[in-house]
Amino acid sequence: MPLLIKNPRIITATDDYTADVYCESETITRIERNIDPASCAKGTELIDASGKYLFPGFIDPHVHIYLPFMGTFAKDTWESASRAAIVGGTTTLIEMICPGKADSPIEAFETWLAKARGVSACDFSFHMGVTRFDPQAERDFREIVRRGVTSFKVFLAYKGALGVDDRELYHTLRLAKELGVVVTAHCENETLVDERQKELLAAAKTGPEYHEPSRPPYVEAEGVHHLMTFARQTGAEVYIVHTSCDAAVREAQCGIANGVNAHIEVVLPHLVLDKTYAERPGFEGAKYVMSPPLRGRADADAMWNHLRSRTVSTVATDHAPFDFETQKTMGRQAFTKIPNGIPSVEDRVNLLYTHGVAAGRIDLHTFVAAASTKAAQIFGLKGKGTVAVGADADLVVYDPNYRGTISAKTHLMQTDYSAFEGWELKGRPSVVTVRGQIMARDGKFVGKLGHGRLVPRTTR
Ligand code: URP
Ligand code: ZN
Ligand code: ZN
Repeated sequence: MPLLIKNPRIITATDDYTADVYCESETITRIERNIDPASCAKGTELIDASGKYLFPGFIDPHVHIYLPFMGTFAKDTWESASRAAIVGGTTTLIEMICPGKADSPIEAFETWLAKARGVSACDFSFHMGVTRFDPQAERDFREIVRRGVTSFKVFLAYKGALGVDDRELYHTLRLAKELGVVVTAHCENETLVDERQKELLAAAKTGPEYHEPSRPPYVEAEGVHHLMTFARQTGAEVYIVHTSCDAAVREAQCGIANGVNAHIEVVLPHLVLDKTYAERPGFEGAKYVMSPPLRGRADADAMWNHLRSRTVSTVATDHAPFDFETQKTMGRQAFTKIPNGIPSVEDRVNLLYTHGVAAGRIDLHTFVAAASTKAAQIFGLKGKGTVAVGADADLVVYDPNYRGTISAKTHLMQTDYSAFEGWELKGRPSVVTVRGQIMARDGKFVGKLGHGRLVPRTTR
């Protein structure tokens, strides 16, 4: 059904103005100061957005939904995660495909795709995880890129599980350069993490509060330095995921100064939480175990500053949902067994608005750029990330006057806890559309599962 959105304040990465927006056949077809409803198609739905913002649909370029990891599986499905994303204002997700080292990449791609296709309510794409690089895997990666998945993911962490060695890293980057695809990378030195973990456990330091000391900022910075060195030699374009600390950003800046084409991502937990949450008594800290770990307040503040100065391009979530009662508790005897991850796909936009825009840390344009536009540009999501004639009608009518609180009792993610239980929100989407279909209203999912589709992406 065509849509006419009257009177919103339209905010893009660069513009701020008031106009009416008309959408027909999945796209925005008119933006004018005053669109007469009589000039619109019969049956047009009218949305009064006076006093509200109109943002482009938000994009989360780093989520895990189907994730076999650390001896268990992440809790969400595309049904639950895409509903949660949409209610929270996110209209496109990019999921990490994380095959086991022995798995066939093309089969993994098909497995991950089958879980999303026909189920997801929001649009989606993937980063193809490279956990092994050999001639057969290379043939598969070429085919996957041909099918429109034009970014890879490598782990320099998770020794013996998902991590690649230097030869594999080198050849992945070379292939990426040849094909014109971006390589996203989890940067931590896996050997240093592994050795420090063993030392801590041997000293009976087994609680979640030892997760951060097992992988300190300089170990992450070394991972970034390592990636930058390989990117410099191969000329590949790289994207550093979940950068948590100033030291890591500085290594990235150093690489960029040396000519590396690199982008920096921060994830919501590293902005709004800090390591004191993982130090909470009674094993409660396990809810806050992710990698790289939550850092001290000074690093969180530094990441806000890097976001404000646009040194950091994107804010994602690294949504990796595990239950507290049955999954995080697998690590009661050793923090190394706590499944890593913090669920947040539903909360990213509202918490970034509340703690970023409403708190005066970032302006509205930086908010839109970091949570939508930059991801569309970096990952080639054509038609996404802006409000313009011809763009996909992925839109968020946002009410900055909404006040409410987050709770696991009401969230749509499938985890039994929220890392943000009781936190106040200052703002929420009133209406969310995906290619012109209304999918959420005032915190309720009202759309159709299966509406989402794989967004075709091209190479550079
Ligand atoms: O703790 C995290 N980040 N869990 C998900 C896997 C990853 O490293 O992205
Ligand atoms: Zn990671
Ligand atoms: Zn991740």
